Amino acid sequence: MTRRALISAAAALAFALVAFAGTGTASAQEDHSGAIKARLAYMQLNGFFMGQLAGIAKGQVPYDGAQASGIANNLLALSTMDVGAMWPPGSDNGALPGKTRAKAEVWTTFPAVVEKADAMTKALEGLVAAAGTDLASLQGAFGAVGAACGGCHRPFRAERF
Ligand code: HEC
Repeated sequence: MTRRALISAAAALAFALVAFAGTGTASAQEDHSGAIKARLAYMQLNGFFMGQLAGIAKGQVPYDGAQASGIANNLLALSTMDVGAMWPPGSDNGALPGKTRAKAEVWTTFPAVVEKADAMTKALEGLVAAAGTDLASLQGAFGAVGAACGGCHRPFRAERF
């Protein structure tokens, strides 16, 4: 299996677990607070590393290829984690208002969310390849990753808690 196929497979697996868990017996009373906390923490890590790269891409922080590569690799590593258990059915913003911004569409349109996760992984592979080259390359690839984040947030994340 090529590296790209392997990484896409990992991303697919991460969200495939969501569908699998859908056949389980999640009770209506469950608050899923642990899973929600974990996925918000996971997304905050994404946000932290993207914030670091944004500073470099905007020229607020001097470009350093090794540093930019390290951050890109952190993001790619995050995207290949198996996070299926953080997305149990019944943990959407309709079932748990005020606790999460995850829309029911994550589950009801499954596996559409997997395609978005795969698109992000592909964009991150591009970022890893470009980040250490020079600032212009980093800027181009960074834009594509930001678009991939937004590409999932638009359909699957509500504006507010
Ligand atoms: C496959 C879909 C998907 C992708 C890709 C994705 N996100 Fe998210 N993200 C979500 C969902 C859904 C939520 C809402 C989670 C919740 O409230 O339970 C979220 C929430 C967040 C949050 C808010 C966390 C909080 O504490 O409220 C941040 C920040 C975030 N994402 C950053 C990112 C960044 C940066 C990227 C790209 C590097 C990214 N996300 C990629 C689906 C995605």
